[in-house]
Amino acid sequence: MTQQEYLTQNKDRFLNELFELLRIPSISADSAYKGDVANAAEYVKEKLIAAGADKVEVCPTAGHPIVYGEKMIDPKLPTVLVYGHYDVQPVVPLELWDTPPFEPTIKKTKLHPDGAIFARGSADDKGQFYMHVKAFEVMMQTNTLPCNVKFMIEGEEEVGSSNLGTFCRENVERLKADVVLISDTSMIANDVPSIDTGLRGLSYVEVEVTGPNRDLHSGVYGGAVANPINILAKMIASMHDENNHITIPGFYEDVQNLTEAERTELNKAPFNLEEYKNDLAIADVWGEKGYTVLERTGIRPTLDCNGIWGGYTGEGSKTVLPSKAFAKISMRLVPNQTTDKITELFANHFKKIAPAGVRVEVRPHHGGEPVVTPTNSPAYIAAAKAMETTFGKKPIPTRGGGSIPIVALFESVLGLKSVLMGFGLDSDALHSPNEHYGLFNYYKGIETIPYFFKNFTELKK
Ligand code: BES
Ligand code: MN
Ligand code: MN
Repeated sequence: MTQQEYLTQNKDRFLNELFELLRIPSISADSAYKGDVANAAEYVKEKLIAAGADKVEVCPTAGHPIVYGEKMIDPKLPTVLVYGHYDVQPVVPLELWDTPPFEPTIKKTKLHPDGAIFARGSADDKGQFYMHVKAFEVMMQTNTLPCNVKFMIEGEEEVGSSNLGTFCRENVERLKADVVLISDTSMIANDVPSIDTGLRGLSYVEVEVTGPNRDLHSGVYGGAVANPINILAKMIASMHDENNHITIPGFYEDVQNLTEAERTELNKAPFNLEEYKNDLAIADVWGEKGYTVLERTGIRPTLDCNGIWGGYTGEGSKTVLPSKAFAKISMRLVPNQTTDKITELFANHFKKIAPAGVRVEVRPHHGGEPVVTPTNSPAYIAAAKAMETTFGKKPIPTRGGGSIPIVALFESVLGLKSVLMGFGLDSDALHSPNEHYGLFNYYKGIETIPYFFKNFTELKK
């Protein structure tokens, strides 16, 4: 039987199995779901075994477990390490979901006329890593697995992969491979395949601004005492200048600027500004002066407030001058910025701009370093050729704006480069209500992955 025949015959089961995985609410950020996260790990283990993997194990960590499995057919052949994550983002605000996040439902959309699976994790990353489990099954069942494969599917990507570094350091031998293959990014469109050649890094902080020692009557004290919310808002706003440059001293110091030729190349990727604005219902885009949207999201660093709270937010009104205000702030980093340095620059600056009437505290969260992946490596060429075969078009190299912090660690700890062969779309509502993943994308991924294995094995000869 050919791979295509096997895929066609098992199409429905491949989808049902993904549905079952999507029904498990494996939200890593919320400790109330710890049991569900563990159940998802068990499910992945079971499916890896069923697909034909050996030494499959749910490896405990200080946090959520990592699922490992492998198929070593010949130590002399190349080894591909498949990485993915079975944890998902929280689903709040629940009322904005048209169908429940953990009841996968197929609906048609403009960009997915053949239907898309609506569920939390469908695109990020259950639907995407599960393609690898099924592609592996296809290769096993059709006797076409051309090289060794190892799977490492973690449960803490959405909370910063804080225990995966330790796991990698403790398992350098077990994780020995030639390349890491990851499907956890997007392509430009279903008829415009692309491969991410970079990920931004991340520095994430929480800030606390304290004014008076207690909440006050805003009439009795208002006007004479610093309001931490007003102050915090002003401090955040001051961190972009009139050109939307970030004002933290030294912030751009290490930024690797692209050459004019590289920028021209990057901007050749198809991008329709009108469609972009329409999709988001915005009258205009916003960003750093002198850069295009593709550059602003791909090769330039950012600073964004992700959440802000304090004072009274309940029903009706309460005239209060709050004692405290808080915000969560993320900075996306590009080569050669580093998390530690940027976090320190931020903290120093934030303390410096605080007026005397408040005290501030800066608490760093998880972060991750930026990465760029080579486009001339056997693995990249294998991925590009695989996509060209199944899409009928050469994929365009792009720079993704998101972060997968562990990718930099694969390089520093395991000495491994990664290939980011993602099949989702940026508009699939990752992390948002109504996240979805195209059926076309799911099946196209399963069809494409075996070509990667074949091409990679041949190129490594
Ligand atoms: N899969 C995403 C990253 C991504 C999405 C990269 C689309 C490129 C295109 C990943 O699961 C993710 O969401 N990462 C987080 C970082 C993490 C530390 C929470 C992110 O980018 O915000
Ligand atoms: Mn992801
Ligand atoms: Mn994510």
